[in-house]
Order: sequence, then structure tokens, then C-alpha cells
Amino acid sequence: MHHSKISGIAILGAGIFVGEAYLPALATLGHTSPPLKAVYSRSEKSSTETAQNATRILGLPSSPDVYFDGDHPNNLDALLGRSDIAAVIIALPITLQPDIVLKCLSAGKHVLSEKPVAPDVARGLRLLRDAEPICQRHGLVWHVAENYETEPVYRAAGEVIKSGKIGNIIFFKVAVVNYIDKTSKWYKTPWRTVPDYQGGFLLDGGVHTIAALRTMLPQTFTHLSGFASLNKEYLPPHDTIHCVVQAGSHYHGIVEMTFASPTKSVPAAENIVITGSKGWLACNATSEGFKMVIRIAEQKDSEATEEKEEIMNFPRKGVETELEAFFDDIVKQQAGEHTSSIGDPKAALEDVAFIQAALTSKGNLMPLPSSFKLLPK
Ligand SMILES: *[C@@H]1O[C@H](CO)[C@@H](O)[C@H](O)[C@H]1NC(C)=O
Ligand SMILES: *[C@@H]1O[C@H](CO)[C@@H](O)[C@H](O)[C@H]1NC(C)=O
Repeated sequence: MHHSKISGIAILGAGIFVGEAYLPALATLGHTSPPLKAVYSRSEKSSTETAQNATRILGLPSSPDVYFDGDHPNNLDALLGRSDIAAVIIALPITLQPDIVLKCLSAGKHVLSEKPVAPDVARGLRLLRDAEPICQRHGLVWHVAENYETEPVYRAAGEVIKSGKIGNIIFFKVAVVNYIDKTSKWYKTPWRTVPDYQGGFLLDGGVHTIAALRTMLPQTFTHLSGFASLNKEYLPPHDTIHCVVQAGSHYHGIVEMTFASPTKSVPAAENIVITGSKGWLACNATSEGFKMVIRIAEQKDSEATEEKEEIMNFPRKGVETELEAFFDDIVKQQAGEHTSSIGDPKAALEDVAFIQAALTSKGNLMPLPSSFKLLPK
């Protein structure tokens, strides 16, 4: 879809993800992306640097305008006052984002804000409750950027499962094993070095995994029981989670997530495996993208079965597809058409609720809200 009806966009944030993911993804979208007109960061230096990088990466004829904390006419209020900027992409520290999301929506801007939607469930609920009437009143689109939700491999896996190819799901397993030392560029981001929110990397990175699972699995999670621990003293408050999860009333699975691997090389293990009554499906990250393997048992004769294997490779392009979905929905919203289900803040809040439950369970059975429809009025 062409997005020329969107007058212009701005990026709020100047971190690693903006430089390494958003700008290249906007460059790939090329002329189908609305023009990047402004950049905001808390400091003038990083905002200027990001504007320079954007000019280079996007091949712009002139630099986007630079905004930063300070006085009019260079601050965020000035940016939000511009009528030629219809939408903003927000990639700021986790605990700052909810207030900025509301500020941007109140200024009449469509918003794509980075995950997690909020540092915890209570803050997320308040944000959703405050944002909803503003979106309604101004006819705005608010997506939470969850690139795993739009990653083609997980969407394709969801379709395979829905088609019944592997039968009825009977169990699943996910293992995410990460190595983070003090030289990691992610660790060096000041707000990640000393996180002021629960879970540390487990919240920031863990919501991706839960989003991938909910994109593939047909039933929502209902309960979990888990344990959390801290093993590397520089990754507080927790770096490891193990839990057992119930989905729907039919099946269950195991979720393992750690950032405490002692070695860079991690033991060989499947990343995600979903097992059905007829076969299983596994998704693994590769250096180029993702690989999906499907193995189905087929009846050979009355006694024996035979296995059939299918292997599919997928590019890594979730950020690009999430941006496209955001721009598409703005155009649809303006035309009075139905928008997609992608980037739903309620679903993003369910991901946060999952991590929060795992961090606080201590082995107790925790109910998981499969819907936040019951928002307090
Ligand atoms: C700008 O790009 C350079 C070169 O890729 C990179 O080293 C730098 O960190 C970027 N700056 C920002 C603020 O993203
Ligand atoms: C996934 O990668 C692991 C190595 O980490 C390997 O042991 C496993 O066989 C791979 N699975 C598939 C289905 O390719």
C-alpha cells in the first residue's frame, strides 16, 4: 500500500534500535514510507547524530529537523505542534514511554510505540484506559511495535497450525538462552545497565518470545507456575525464568528464558517446538533469518508410520512489516475502513502480564488475563 496520504512522520528516540532497525527498515520501505521530517531525543547531541544517520541511511535530500529537551522552538512540544507530522515512532526508555505515548496521542498524532507497552500491568492498564478515549475522539491509530508478531516465520507457523497440518496441539516448548556480558552494546545502554523496572532483560527481551508464541498458538494462555532467579550479579533484578504454562483447556508447555549463559556458545537446542497430534513444527533463528521445520507422521500401512519433512526459510523483517502494518492502518482509519489486529496494545499488555506472573509466581499458580476487556471505568 502507498502511504502518500500520511503527511510526515517523526522518530522519538536515538538509541541502538532506531539506528540499527528502524532507519534501515524505513530505507527498505523506500518511497512507500511517509517522509521522515523530524527526530527527537532528550539530548541535542544524539538527536543531531540520529538526524545525520537518517539522512545517510534514507538518502534524504536534507536532514530531518532536530528536536531535544529545552525551550521552544526545538523541544518535543514544538515537534508535536507541527501539522505536517501525522505520526510518531517512539523508542524511548521503558518507564518514560507511557507518558510520552499519551502526550503524542493528545496532540493528535498516530503512535507506534516500542514494546513493552508499560513496565508493569498496573501502569499498562492505566495507559490503555487513558489512551482509548483519546484514540476514539481523534480517530487515531496506536500500535505497540512488536516485531516478533509480524515476523513472517511466526505468522506462517500460525497459518500451518491453523490449517490442522500438525493436528491438535498437545504441547509446546520454548528455550531462549542468551549470553550478556558487560561489553554488550545492549547492556551499555544506561537504562538497561541499571533497570528501573521489573525483570531487566527478561521484560525487555522476554515479551518478544511471548508475542511469538501468541502469534502461533490458537489458544490464549490461562495459567502459569514458575520460578525466577538472578545468577549474574550485573543483570538485576532477575536474569532467568522457568515456567510451566497452560493454554486454553487443552494443552500446556514449558517456557525457559535466560540471559545468564556463562558461555557465548549455548548448548544446541531447538528454539521453539510446537507439537501436535500428527507432527511437530520447530522454528530456529539462523544467521540469515529463520528456519521452520515441519515433521509429520503419515500412516504407511495399518501398522507403521512414515515421516515427511518440510523445511522453509524466512527472512528477518519484522520491523519492516510492523511499520508497514502501522502505516496501512493509518490509511485505513482515515478511509473509515477496518484496521488490522496487529500491534494491539491489549495483546502487548498480555505479554507483560505473562512476564510479571513468571517473575512473581515463586511456584504458585498464577492466572493470566487472556483479555483486558474489563478495564476499570
Ligand atoms: C550513527 O551511525 C554511526 C555509524 O553507523 C554509529 O556509530 C552511531 O552510533 C550512530 N548514532 C546514533 C545516535 O545512532
Ligand atoms: C535448531 O538449532 C539447533 C542448534 O542450536 C540444532 O541443534 C537443531 O537441530 C536446530 N533445529 C532445526 C529444526 O533445524
